[in-house]
Amino acid sequence: MPSALPEGQRAPNDGSLPELARGELSLRPLGIYIHVPFCTTRCGYCDFNTYTAAELGTERGASRAGYVDAAIHELGLAARVLGADVPAVSTIFVGGGTPTLLPPDDLGRLITAVSNHFALAPDAEVTTESNPESIDSAGLHRLRELGFNRISFGMQSAVAHVLARLDRTHSAGRPLQAVAEAKTAGFDNISLDLIYGTPGESANDWQESLAAALSAAPEHISAYALIVEEGTRLAARIRRGELSPTDEDDLADKYLIADQRLAAAGYTAYEVSNWARSAATRCRHNEGYWRSHHWWGIGPGAHSHVGGVRWWNIKHPRAYASRLASGQSPAQARELLSAEQRRVERILLELRLAEGLTTSLLTSTEKSRLVDLLTRRLAVVEDGMVILTPTGRLLADGVIRDLLD
Ligand SMILES: C[S@@+](CC[C@H](N)C(=O)[O-])C[C@H]1O[C@@H](n2cnc3c(N)ncnc32)[C@H](O)[C@@H]1O
Ligand code: SF4
Repeated sequence: MPSALPEGQRAPNDGSLPELARGELSLRPLGIYIHVPFCTTRCGYCDFNTYTAAELGTERGASRAGYVDAAIHELGLAARVLGADVPAVSTIFVGGGTPTLLPPDDLGRLITAVSNHFALAPDAEVTTESNPESIDSAGLHRLRELGFNRISFGMQSAVAHVLARLDRTHSAGRPLQAVAEAKTAGFDNISLDLIYGTPGESANDWQESLAAALSAAPEHISAYALIVEEGTRLAARIRRGELSPTDEDDLADKYLIADQRLAAAGYTAYEVSNWARSAATRCRHNEGYWRSHHWWGIGPGAHSHVGGVRWWNIKHPRAYASRLASGQSPAQARELLSAEQRRVERILLELRLAEGLTTSLLTSTEKSRLVDLLTRRLAVVEDGMVILTPTGRLLADGVIRDLLD
């Protein structure tokens, strides 16, 4: 089961935003996230808002076939709410779920709908996520023709027993083949997602996955420590004692292995879990999240942020489609962030970035706690920016906690 959404205050039925929030639109870039909530099977570790065909049934409003129309409907609502003076859209990110379970032309309809409702910046980054087994050469060519210029494959591992433990359905070699096919199709901005710390994964297994990912020479690599999410099959298996959770030391070793190998291959960690071959191939869309830009999240369970207002959509695809069909916003609830909440959020996110966090955001108490972090070599201060060291990045969550309380 996907996890529950946070609570919050009621969101208006027409999706409208306070004028003060709308007034901030011109100050920072705007991104659009489009969630595709479908997967062939659910991986045992995943608690994302995604549904298999069996979970959805064939009822109207919940089918894959009708989904794109509902999402396009929400894009129309977004354009009306944001108004005519909205800046050009600088990034689109189609994520999931498994976007490439939809036919490429359906994904293309989403991009066309964005350009019909908004100005799309000429240099816009247009990404889709893809499971390597869910796309072929012809599909990749079509996606490129339809305007996608970046693709992110969920590789996770190059080791068969690790993929099996994660319930992934692709073969160990398929992600590399998919990268080669994407290159032939004209993609020159390709990313691979990896997971480390799967129960049963050895340090050698992880080295093998990194070596395989590097052999494909993608422009970008994300490497995430496996999170054991409450309510997943993985969590249940660990609770029953069938699997042992990966301990913190193992995760730490694997993070440092990744950092060293990726750095040696010319990749820079521009965020704690994200490495890029150059500044130009960072994921601009995700940078928008980390830098508190504006983004509208389309689709069931999608989250949005405009000018300090955060809201999230109702989770089930059927409820989502029926809200839109009856002329209502699919937003379930929202939060109006105070200035202090926005400041703390910036600390949480910007400290994870390679450029670091400006010391001017810190209170005097936080500045005194920073001294301790500098002594422990978890961070340095350069030109007024607090920047985490590799060990600080490894312990980022704890470092941020120590700074804030
Ligand atoms: C939610 S998936 C969507 C894309 C695609 N369906 C896939 O699985 O590759 C995006 C990425 O999140 C990461 N992810 C999902 N669940 C995770 C977990 N419990 N712990 C760590 N990473 C996770 C995976 O690396 C995955 O590639
Ligand atoms: S394929 Fe991706 S989104 Fe789907 S269940 Fe697996 S990790 Fe989650």
